[in-house]
Order: sequence, then C-alpha cells, then structure tokens
Amino acid sequence: MMKIDVVTIFPGILEGPFKESMIKRAIDKGFVEINLVDLRDYTHDQHRQVDDYPYGGGYGMVLKPEPLFEAIEDLKNHSDSHHSRVILLTPQGKRFDQQDARRLSTDAHLIMICGRYEGVDERVRIELVDEEVSIGDFVLTGGELGAAVVVDAIVRLLPGFLAEEASADESFTGSLLEYPHYTRPAIYRGMAVPPVLLSGNHGEISRWRRKQSLKRTQERRPDLLKKANLSKMDQDYLEEL
Ligand code: ADE
Repeated sequence: MMKIDVVTIFPGILEGPFKESMIKRAIDKGFVEINLVDLRDYTHDQHRQVDDYPYGGGYGMVLKPEPLFEAIEDLKNHSDSHHSRVILLTPQGKRFDQQDARRLSTDAHLIMICGRYEGVDERVRIELVDEEVSIGDFVLTGGELGAAVVVDAIVRLLPGFLAEEASADESFTGSLLEYPHYTRPAIYRGMAVPPVLLSGNHGEISRWRRKQSLKRTQERRPDLLKKANLSKMDQDYLEEL
C-alpha cells in the first residue's frame, strides 16, 4: 500500500479533500494511507514556533529548519519502505504534469512538505528535499492546496483503483484533450446529441471521438499535438482541419 505523509502547519486545509469521493474510497479500500502531519508537533518551545525572521532582513517569515528536519527524519524512520521521496510544494518547483503523476504513483512512500510564508530555510531544500514541485505559474498562500492537487492526481492512478477502461482510454488518447461527452436526454432545449453516438456503430463512434479529440487539441492546446502519438489517419484529419 502506498503511504503519503503531508507535513503542514494547517492540517485543517487538507482534511476536506481527503474525506470525500474517490480519495476517501481509495483510503477506505486500502490503496493508500494518507497522514496529515502537524509540523508544530515537532517543536519543543511553549509557543510551538515553526517560523522565524529571515537573516539579512526583508519581508515575511521563513519556516525554521529544526521542526522540518525532525519531522522528516521521524517519518523516514517510521517508514516500511527503504526509500521515501521528499517533495516540497513551492512555486519555484518543476511544473507538475501527468507524467510526474504517473511516475510518483509507483513510489511506496511520499513525504510532502507544504511551504508557507516566504519559503523554507535553504538547508531544508539542500539536505532533505528530493524534488520541488509547482502546480502552475501562480502563487498560492501555501503548498497545502498544491499537495491536495498532486495527491489527487497520483491516487487516481494507483494500480487497480480506477476502472481499467478509464485508464486505457487515457493512455490511448495520450496527450490529447478528451472528446465531448453526452448523456440523456437525446434532445435537450433543442440541442441534439450527435447522431453517431446513438448509432451503436462502435467503429464509427471511435473515429468520431478521435477526430473530436484532435480538433479540440488543435483549437485549444496545439502545443500538446507536438508530443502526441499520431497515426497517418490522425495527421490526414488534422490537414483537413
Ligand atoms: N505554494 C505556493 N504556490 C505554489 C504553487 N504554484 N505550486 C505549489 N506550491 C505552491
């Protein structure tokens, strides 16, 4: 079973996302264990202080090294796996993508550190952190929501968890955007479902979906097309467009 420890000074932010829907099911079914670790539990002073002023002056506070070192060491010592990957959520990290999600979903033990304030003491990065991850080119008030996003993307890929079909479809489409989806009713407020989807002809439906994926990707994310695995038929269709 995969284990994910999330080190944070605001565990409350992360309680909700892991208590609902698919992630809750993954936990209940024993695919993953997720522990919210309160960094303040690793302080020794009366005020449970986790941050301090930056050397050299300047704006904001910095997460102190001692609680983070002690927390990470403790979590590694109590791990069943011989390797624990330590990930720091920060806007300075590598931008997280589906390939990272796939790679990390094969790890046995992840420790995520949610950055806060102006950052963490540099010695934490140097000594403890294996990877720095950003969820996009914008700045959040802390790494907690980033950790929720990364955990969600990883957990849905855990082997055996999602229906095989869902992941097969995903690997088939690869880096293309998804085709449009429809459900009942067949006509709603005068808008009809494309007739091919009602035809029962699975070959035709597959081709229609593939074309729609290509069209959508061309229109919205042409950068993804460069990385996609395209057949001769795909390329012909794109020329037509
Ligand atoms: N913390 C602050 N901003 C972040 C971002 N964009 N990604 C991950 N962690 C963050």
